[in-house]
Amino acid sequence: MQAFLLIQKSKLSNAFSNYSISQIFKSSNHPIKCLFLQKGIIFMIMLAPLHGFTDFIFRNVYSRHYEGIDYAISPFISLTACDKINPRKVKDVLPENNAKMPVIPQILGKEIDSFIQMADFLNAWGYDKLNWNLGCPVKSIAHKKRGSGMLPYPELLRSILDAIIPAIGQQLSVKIRLGYYNTDEIYQLIAVFNDYPLDNICIHPRIGIQMYEGNIHHDVLQSVIHEFKHEIVYNGDITGLDSYKMIQPKYPGISQWMIGRGIFSNPLLPMQIKLDRVEENANDTERFRLFLNDLIQELRFYKTESQTVNKMKDLWRLFSYGFIAQARVLDSIIHVQTLDEMKTLSNHIVETEIRCIGNDALPIV
Ligand SMILES: Cc1cc2nc3c(=O)[nH]c(=O)nc-3n(C[C@H](O)[C@H](O)[C@H](O)COP(=O)(O)O)c2cc1C
Repeated sequence: MQAFLLIQKSKLSNAFSNYSISQIFKSSNHPIKCLFLQKGIIFMIMLAPLHGFTDFIFRNVYSRHYEGIDYAISPFISLTACDKINPRKVKDVLPENNAKMPVIPQILGKEIDSFIQMADFLNAWGYDKLNWNLGCPVKSIAHKKRGSGMLPYPELLRSILDAIIPAIGQQLSVKIRLGYYNTDEIYQLIAVFNDYPLDNICIHPRIGIQMYEGNIHHDVLQSVIHEFKHEIVYNGDITGLDSYKMIQPKYPGISQWMIGRGIFSNPLLPMQIKLDRVEENANDTERFRLFLNDLIQELRFYKTESQTVNKMKDLWRLFSYGFIAQARVLDSIIHVQTLDEMKTLSNHIVETEIRCIGNDALPIV
């Protein structure tokens, strides 16, 4: 049985002052899901899909050490025309790999038959929701009218939605940007999306050609947000409690927040947002060290030694933004050769380098 515990930020300190959040989670034999209220409305935090970073290994290890993520969108599963789905393609959303953190599979591509084939396959695995990637800015993908490359073509988008929505057994959500070439594209996109029963629309308020850099167009999103018929999920540049507090008041109606890179620079961030406070805790460093060691061990279970070292080097590209001396941290990691060196250096960095937790991490580019 799933039990729900409602927690209102303002009441939290009085109600649970003698408990840590992990004690609250573990205080019943029933699985308790903590729902947090913000001004009386339930609000949720979801883990953004980061291809190559937030796979099931990361999601499972993260869930063993930290709390606060309500669910994740998987990194994209790319469509290819084939008679049978290749199991390797969908390994990341294999139900037995995802017992810890609820996940919604994400699809990238515009081929209608392949989309429906993949949806049917995932339906048989019990997935009742799907997310469609209309935000990926990578040129080689966008130039094929995939990801954010679809955004300048609202009529093509309409024809695909016409075909897939009645044919799939899942509720569909989309992850978009404000456009590919410019933010004016959003007006026609709203007209299209409003005609379909979508679960929600997650918006990263940049345009495709910006990739992940440059200003977020808050002014544009604020001016159009009321025109959407669907629930909007906000995503972009939440790297600390400070940036959340700057962004949240711009969108008072939003109750779902998606965080990507900020989870790596500060894994405590979802809970800091939910509790509305940053606490310097004596065991934070040890917790992060244990998390990294567990991550290395789990990666090694699925990969060779050199693959594990390379994956950790990739992951450190994002972890490094949580340290004041970001460049030095990254520079030392790049030279690691063996798994033992990776373990030793990871521990050394965590124990000796100063972290940015408490305020926003460095801007992540
Ligand atoms: C390395 C990397 C991989 C990404 N992979 C995906 C992906 O598979 N699907 C997707 O919709 N977005 C992907 N994104 C975009 C993120 O989900 C998110 O929209 C973006 O990082 C902005 O959010 P953030 O500022 O909280 O990180 C990726 C971003 C990065 C940096």
